[in-house]
Amino acid sequence: MEIKNSIALVTGSNRGLGKSLVAALANAGCKKIYAAARQTYSIELPDTEVEIFPLKLDVTKQETLKEAAEIASDIQIIFNNAGVLEFGEILETPEQNLRNIFETNFFGKLSVAKNFASVLEANGGGTIVNTLTLLSLASMPGFAAYNASKAAAWSMSLSLRASLKPKNIQVVNAFPGAIDTDMLSGLEINKTSPDHVAQEILHAVQNNQEDVFPDLMSKQVYEAWCQDHKAVEKNFASM
Ligand SMILES: NC(=O)c1ccc[n+]([C@@H]2O[C@H](COP(=O)([O-])OP(=O)(O)OC[C@H]3O[C@@H](n4cnc5c(N)ncnc54)[C@H](OP(=O)(O)O)[C@@H]3O)[C@@H](O)[C@H]2O)c1
Repeated sequence: MEIKNSIALVTGSNRGLGKSLVAALANAGCKKIYAAARQTYSIELPDTEVEIFPLKLDVTKQETLKEAAEIASDIQIIFNNAGVLEFGEILETPEQNLRNIFETNFFGKLSVAKNFASVLEANGGGTIVNTLTLLSLASMPGFAAYNASKAAAWSMSLSLRASLKPKNIQVVNAFPGAIDTDMLSGLEINKTSPDHVAQEILHAVQNNQEDVFPDLMSKQVYEAWCQDHKAVEKNFASM
């Protein structure tokens, strides 16, 4: 899908990858960008000529989803980016915490797609980009709730892809490795800059790729997973 002159919306655009996606979209010549966030005062707009419209959107709150879909009725691409992470092993994670993570990473993503699919359809079709993670493919025990929510989100996204194809809506799945944002600020591991990841995701959208592994870590792990997914499962399980 052509990004130049398109109209896009990014959820969780006030920091991290979402903020980088807004800047990358502006650089790529988007006509208009809805920068969505739970708190609009937290959105820092990049220095650009492109029209950027701050939009209140909490992906777990139906009333803000409905309002946002009414306001952003001209969009063609949506970056379903907002997400949350909590550390902890599966038997030690309280059930309520698991439910809270699913509320954002699974139901939130699904609600965004549900509320905006008819908008995209009315605009002749478009693209939904779901930000998943390498941990959708295999679980690391210390991220138990996150793994589960993102694996479920991947499955949901595949169903969405099939259901929305006849409406000329493409679903792109992004599977980043570690990104240098607040989400992993406590972990001393190699991380890719969110600007790089955002560029790679836009490149995939431009080139009509269905799945994108937008950094070196994700590309290497995906290659290994294609060759021997049980070896990746065992390797991640030991981390
Ligand atoms: N960082 C990584 O290593 C990594 C790797 C793979 C995939 N990802 C995925 O990439 C996406 C962006 O993550 P990030 O690294 O940029 O993390 P981040 O810096 O923690 O940013 C998360 C963003 O999501 C927003 N958000 C959380 N709950 C929300 C809700 N209910 N409604 C609307 N917005 C909400 C946050 O808004 P507030 O400021 O209001 O909290 C924030 O803008 C996530 O889906 C994440 O799972 C990240």
